[in-house]
Amino acid sequence: MTQTARLLPGVPVAEAVFADITRRVAALRERGVTPSLATILVGDDDASAGYIRIKQRQARQLGFDSPHRHLPAYATQHDLLDVIAGFNADPDVHGVLLQYPIPDHLDYDAALQALHPDKDVDGLHPLNMGRLALGLPGALPCTPAGIEALLAHHQIPVAGREVVILGRGATIGRPLAILLAQKRPTANAAVTVVHTGVPDWSRHTRRADILVAAAGVPGIIQPEHVRPGAVVVGAGVRYAGRRLLPDVDEACATVASAITPRVGGVGPTTVATLFRNAVTAAEHATT
Ligand SMILES: NC(=O)c1ccc[n+]([C@@H]2O[C@H](COP(=O)([O-])OP(=O)(O)OC[C@H]3O[C@@H](n4cnc5c(N)ncnc54)[C@H](OP(=O)(O)O)[C@@H]3O)[C@@H](O)[C@H]2O)c1
Repeated sequence: MTQTARLLPGVPVAEAVFADITRRVAALRERGVTPSLATILVGDDDASAGYIRIKQRQARQLGFDSPHRHLPAYATQHDLLDVIAGFNADPDVHGVLLQYPIPDHLDYDAALQALHPDKDVDGLHPLNMGRLALGLPGALPCTPAGIEALLAHHQIPVAGREVVILGRGATIGRPLAILLAQKRPTANAAVTVVHTGVPDWSRHTRRADILVAAAGVPGIIQPEHVRPGAVVVGAGVRYAGRRLLPDVDEACATVASAITPRVGGVGPTTVATLFRNAVTAAEHATT
């Protein structure tokens, strides 16, 4: 197998965002404000605990406080809402991250709605999704905003081009479609979203200048689904224990002109956007 595609790593994109955040944190600290991103983990899922550790390490490096609450897997919805209410009421906490997924007996959407929208660093609260749909300022969903930043950083033209997204989930596909269709130099695309309701979805993906996989189905994107020379962004992943199983089969690198790496593509840009949302929340709360 000969890889012909150039790689689109997310780490340099994240580093550029972190450099900007570092300047903004210094300005906040000069005013006596320590930005604070609180994290909540429910249960003992290994991957989720790992994600929280990464975010807490990053928080320390960027000069954030990061109070953390770990609830047991048997926590009740009331316990979770109690923790959220505590962080909502704490003026020293500017952003709150509820690590997804939470145990099945708990209602994630209800918990998300209980979060104060101005502290929603994931950008997934209904009010922030509404702001996104209306083009109003607000926290942007992290993975979609990270994908736009990734394409811009690597100078992949998006405006006027055909973007096809596989998946209409609330965290990636749906908000990404709105974002990339907006009138902005780094967006402004013709966007198509395909899903299980479009059985012949490859008819659309084979037309795409930019194909984004956001299904969470390992290996669902194969070379025959990709137009030769297209740009392929792999956002969907599933975990088998600690093993990461991406939507995009690595053989796609023989067909695409540019492709995100298996590890270190969209992930770092997602984390960077989370902290950008958090520093923005701290600025808004203290000016
Ligand atoms: N890289 C990152 O930083 C990052 C961050 C967050 C999430 N993720 C990953 O991204 C993935 C998507 O997350 P999400 O929450 O947006 O989506 P989601 O709610 O899990 O939805 C998945 C979407 O994929 C579609 N789909 C699934 N199987 C399909 C098939 N065989 N053919 C066609 N369409 C299919 C579904 O169609 P229907 O709507 O018709 O069911 C649905 O729209 C997940 O794997 C998640 O782990 C990655």
